[in-house]
Amino acid sequence: MTTLEKIAKLKKTKNAVILAHYYTPADVQAVADYVGDSFYLSKVAVSLEADTIVFCGVSFMGESAKLLNPHKTVLMPDLEADCPMAHMATPEDILRVRAEYEDVAVVCYINSDTELKSLSDVCVTSANAVKVVKALPNKNIYFIPDKNLAHYVAEKIPEKNFIFNPGFCPIHEHMSADEIKSAKLSHPNALVLAHPECSKEILNMADYIGSTSGILNFAKDSEVGEFIICTEQGVEYELKRQNPVGKRFYFPKTAPVCPGMKRVTLEKVLRVLETGENQVTLPEGLTESAVEPLDKMLKLAK
Ligand code: 13P
Ligand code: SF4
Repeated sequence: MTTLEKIAKLKKTKNAVILAHYYTPADVQAVADYVGDSFYLSKVAVSLEADTIVFCGVSFMGESAKLLNPHKTVLMPDLEADCPMAHMATPEDILRVRAEYEDVAVVCYINSDTELKSLSDVCVTSANAVKVVKALPNKNIYFIPDKNLAHYVAEKIPEKNFIFNPGFCPIHEHMSADEIKSAKLSHPNALVLAHPECSKEILNMADYIGSTSGILNFAKDSEVGEFIICTEQGVEYELKRQNPVGKRFYFPKTAPVCPGMKRVTLEKVLRVLETGENQVTLPEGLTESAVEPLDKMLKLAK
């Protein structure tokens, strides 16, 4: 039996589903039952009948799926697959800001570990952050951990007072503006589509800014045929799948690759299905307080 046949058989016998983020390797996306951005995957996670979820992504994603499904088994192909930004805020900073501002909402990008979520009021993803923050009654917003997404949202909601935190995604933050400029010179008709985790310099060059699925939808619906894509390279698989002929996609010369997402492989998917290893467990005592901001996000973003 091939790896794919073994995975298909085990999915049936274990009543398991495979969820994968667009940044995982193409062969992992191809085997998944659901592929999407963080918002889509968190919505899918609450609607599943399966006993086991195999989450192909980084640890905050597996932890969010477990928080939303405490009675299901959530397996991660690689427990070391991590997002560095998810740890770029501190409980001490949250307490300090709460003490300083009476009417503050702590808004936590879903790319955060469970402890940070447990200390926050509401979660957001890049797909729903503007909508969710707008719906909050609070004037003061402490947005953790991503400074770039925070500034992007703050510009859209000038009536609120944002307190920023210095976190960032190394892959999007370090994308080179010069490389985008030279891609633009080589492909003058291409539109620049950027994820809001990119630096201000890149966002200023963008024709469209949005989450991973926002970028995919924009490219699919656009009458333009060429795009410079400012997000993680893994999304190329879905861009090509959705636009099999005609459209062209260019990435920065230095490929934007998330090492955490690339730790997930088909062999590891098969292994966790075979062995039941790599179960996601949550830090003791934080489950209730960490699921509340996720639930609130799902309600406000509806
Ligand atoms: P999305 O919210 O677009 O899925 O992005 C998640 C992420 O990790 C971006 O780097
Ligand atoms: Fe985290 Fe950046 Fe990787 Fe997204 S691309 S998971 S924000 S390190």
